[in-house]
Amino acid sequence: MADFTLNINQRSYNVHVSPDTPLLWVLRDAIGLKGTKFGCGKALCGACTVHLDGNAIRSCSLPVSAVKGKIVTIEGLSENGDHPLQEAWKEIDVPQCGYCQVGQIMSAAALLARKPQPSDEDIDTAMSGNICRCGTYPRIKKAIIMAAA
Ligand code: FES
Repeated sequence: MADFTLNINQRSYNVHVSPDTPLLWVLRDAIGLKGTKFGCGKALCGACTVHLDGNAIRSCSLPVSAVKGKIVTIEGLSENGDHPLQEAWKEIDVPQCGYCQVGQIMSAAALLARKPQPSDEDIDTAMSGNICRCGTYPRIKKAIIMAAA
């Protein structure tokens, strides 16, 4: 066990955990930010996506000891759930079961921050690592295009 200080959603958190604990479990269990979801645990599905210095990363496979930079989770993406992507998600009613959608939004938000007017190909590339078992892909893409407009 060791002490770590993490910058998450512009707040500083001190945690005492094993160095190899994945960031996902630090967020969910040590800090109580439950918005980020566990899917595969192997960096394959994207459910656990958060931002590290603005880049979309898989928190299930990043040990807390390797976290260098500022983390943003879905809880810190906007003040009141009103990020343009969150508004578009609601407008289009994107989710079915909803489980993967936080990861989808975080990947899309990293894309729009980097490229405010993404092409179809940019969207497909950025979102290719986020799996949705319900097949909401067409609505996800539509919402990203709406948020970018
Ligand atoms: Fe991290 Fe699937 S839970 S990629």
